[in-house]
Amino acid sequence: MTLPAAIVWDESNLQLRLLDQRQLPETTCYLDITSLDDACQAISTLSVRGAPAIGIAAAYALIVCAKQAPADELNQVIETAGTALKAARPTAVNLAWAVNRLLAVSRAGGGLEALAREAQTIHEQDRQICRAIGNAGRRLITPGCRVLTHCNAGALAVSELGTATAPMYLSHQDGIRFKVFADETRPLLQGARLTAWELDQAGIDVTLICDNAAASLIAQGEIDLVLVGTDRVTANGDVVNKIGTLNLAVLCHHYRIPFYVACPSSTFDPDTPTGADVPIEQRSADEVTGGRAADVKALNPAFDVTPAALVTGLVTDLGLLDYASENPLGPLLTGQPKHPD
Ligand code: MRU
Repeated sequence: MTLPAAIVWDESNLQLRLLDQRQLPETTCYLDITSLDDACQAISTLSVRGAPAIGIAAAYALIVCAKQAPADELNQVIETAGTALKAARPTAVNLAWAVNRLLAVSRAGGGLEALAREAQTIHEQDRQICRAIGNAGRRLITPGCRVLTHCNAGALAVSELGTATAPMYLSHQDGIRFKVFADETRPLLQGARLTAWELDQAGIDVTLICDNAAASLIAQGEIDLVLVGTDRVTANGDVVNKIGTLNLAVLCHHYRIPFYVACPSSTFDPDTPTGADVPIEQRSADEVTGGRAADVKALNPAFDVTPAALVTGLVTDLGLLDYASENPLGPLLTGQPKHPD
């Protein structure tokens, strides 16, 4: 793949650069992250975005902060920076998960080197996890099938391959030909600017649609499968993902087509009982009005909750977890692969 990496870590100098995804696809440019403020700003403005990617970026940002800290203040700096980074975006559990991994190293007395190793381990594990998700989901991408996806759960949202897109990339490499329809994903157009672009770069047959075209395409029998990513799966199996995902799940239920959600096991949050307990990020009204209706009120929730009852299954690094099976989330609780590949 020729895609620019979302996160670039210079191991020798402990320097972090993040692809500024707000500029894509027109411009490929990187932001140098040299402070906590830079990192929080990059995360909250969506220069770096996608649940796994913000976790990896936050882990490296902690190293950038730690590098500048006097040795006797290292722990305190990590604690303070960790709190600020977690607050930069509240919905994706991967952000807190990654920060907590570094906090655990720091609390156990690990110094800068140990912290940097942990951040790189998180990054490397993400690569392996995406490949495992791809392998688990391969069987969903059959020759000639037509897949609809929403937002960007692609390579730009992780280390590489993506989550929802991983089965697509691996199947495409295997010579299987299929079609992808990408919702443009109002208001920030991650589907149009990122998903359609990255799949097209990879030579995958992708067609961009307006979000509100999905219903009629599905009703006309033009879609065989909906496959999306997620920012958090709660203990009861509810799925929190980009606003508009719930619309698709309701449509899939009505028209009886499968609705699958791809995610790393780190996106499972057993400590949060249901989707109703997840903080939903509310973003600026300007993103909706685009300055065109300055005096009009606008609501801009960034995510919605799809009840577990509407989900066919999860495509995870631990295998394909079918919600109709007995105890589908069991492998996520025990960390055991359900269908080892
Ligand atoms: O607001 P974004 O662009 O960070 O939203 C991203 C999504 O909703 C993705 O589907 C999700 O984070 C999964 S990324 C593998």
